[in-house]
Amino acid sequence: MSTTEELKALHEKWFANCTCELKKTATQPVPGDGNPNAEIVFIGEAPGKNEDLEGRPFVGAAGKFLAEMLESINMKRENIYITNIVKYRPPNNRDPEPSEKDACRAWLHDELALIRPKLIVFLGRHSMNDFFPDLRISLVHGKLVHKKFPNIRAEYFLPLYHPAAALYNGGMRETLADDFKKIPLILKKIAEGKTAESEEPAEKVPPKILEEKSKEKEAVQEALF
Ligand code: URA
Repeated sequence: MSTTEELKALHEKWFANCTCELKKTATQPVPGDGNPNAEIVFIGEAPGKNEDLEGRPFVGAAGKFLAEMLESINMKRENIYITNIVKYRPPNNRDPEPSEKDACRAWLHDELALIRPKLIVFLGRHSMNDFFPDLRISLVHGKLVHKKFPNIRAEYFLPLYHPAAALYNGGMRETLADDFKKIPLILKKIAEGKTAESEEPAEKVPPKILEEKSKEKEAVQEALF
């Protein structure tokens, strides 16, 4: 089976098995979408109205803004994979509840296991906090985070502001655009194995923010940015 066929089968399995309560109110599930061989996976929060109607993530205003930013770094939607932590629209676009995140988590982790990206980009605090509950997006946006999870192949994570939050806030929009521009160099450094963090065993290790101001980290950051 090709990766595309495997991904289709994976989504079909979860259409049938996902126990998220939002199934009752959503029009349809919104699975991840894009290149199943992508080096980079973007993870948002939950589908909005347009996504719920179309069954595809990031097709509304936030999606258009995201497409613009991808274009600014010469990437297209076809090059990446994009998904959400929650696969069904919460009523009136309210924040997803912890139980809804819990119900959709295995689906997301299955997507990541199949795609095996080199870099995971969090769009907003909800997706970041699903992996790193203690990090604050205002402090770590645009900083590369390294952590080995036992069940996830990707080790590098880049938290960014959510495009929907940045869309109508000039300062945040500029910050998001600047953070976005770091992606090509980060991907290059990961491919070359030049991110220079030390090897540590997988479990229970706190994340390393590769912009901390220790001498060692300064050297890493010079190399990275
Ligand atoms: N916002 C998200 O987080 N996900 C979408 O799919 C659309 C908007």
